[in-house]
Amino acid sequence: MLLLPLLLLADLIPGGDNEHKHEQAFQGPTSFHIIQISSFVNSTCAQHHGSGWLDDLQIHGWNSDSGTAIFLKPWSKGNFSDAELTEVVEAFHVYFIKFTPVVQNHFSEFDLTYPFEFQAIGGCELHSGETTVSSWRAALGGVNLMNFQNDSCVPAAEGGSRGQRFCAILSEYQGLSSIIQKLLSNTCPRFLLGVLDAGKAELQRQVKPEAWLSSGPPPLPGHLLLVCHVSGFYPKPVQVMWMRGEQELPVTHQGDILPNADGTWYLRITLDIVAGEEANLNCRVKHSSLGGQDIVLHWGHPTSMTMIILAIILPTFILLICLTLWYLRRRSYQKI
Ligand SMILES: *[C@@H]1O[C@H](CO)[C@@H](O)[C@H](O)[C@H]1NC(C)=O
Repeated sequence: MLLLPLLLLADLIPGGDNEHKHEQAFQGPTSFHIIQISSFVNSTCAQHHGSGWLDDLQIHGWNSDSGTAIFLKPWSKGNFSDAELTEVVEAFHVYFIKFTPVVQNHFSEFDLTYPFEFQAIGGCELHSGETTVSSWRAALGGVNLMNFQNDSCVPAAEGGSRGQRFCAILSEYQGLSSIIQKLLSNTCPRFLLGVLDAGKAELQRQVKPEAWLSSGPPPLPGHLLLVCHVSGFYPKPVQVMWMRGEQELPVTHQGDILPNADGTWYLRITLDIVAGEEANLNCRVKHSSLGGQDIVLHWGHPTSMTMIILAIILPTFILLICLTLWYLRRRSYQKI
């Protein structure tokens, strides 16, 4: 169930991890969204989880007990004044308070059984750096319910009569609809521009990846599974390829780009080859932080680990020889 908002979020994030993104002058997120997950436990108990996201970076949490926002970054308040923030937080507080009985009162019309979840994602996105487009989508019991566009509620085909019912109910609660409309069309675009500016040092930073090679469990006897790991890069768009010489090879498996705890990203790609055919293989990493200087790792060449070991063992060995020579010379002096 928790997956749905993330899938919805992924839908709204513009662009893939393609090469064109590297050429764009503007790096960093272009959208702000609030995710709501409401668990209706029984006829009297509902729990709400709220969070605020810039693309796939969470910058706000929500304390549903106190009805207050949690600012996860020093710049999460954007350029809003304390007075304006208090007003927005209060709007969300009221929204959650009003929302619960609306759903509970109309529970029987939705042909549901407790417990069930209501999930929504709403916010705005910057298009071509200038205009913003707002949207709000909701799902009930894991099924798309409606899409709120241009101030009107459009039932999702998938939701069937539930979607139509939900839109009809929403139109009866003018107070609730007007809070949502104001947040989407007025507050969100202003907040987005402010927060992108306030956080730009972090959002537009460039962090170079580290890359290393390893081997994985061979998929077939007589085969090798080569793994190229790329970690610690920011922003997210990256291109990693297995090559033979200058020729790109079809990759066996490219994983998802996964988040590291420090907000940077990790990716691994694997290559399945017949043992004995590992000559001239290399993994190439292209990333905006590298300024055109791709990282190229050659399979079978000394890795940085063996270099480190050599760097420790070699001087130790030389020192031992020197000490032995010195000791032998001292002994021969003592004999005289
Ligand atoms: C509803 O759920 C809450 C939390 O689990 C529980 O404390 C409460 O007694 C339940 N109420 C009813 C009417 O079942």
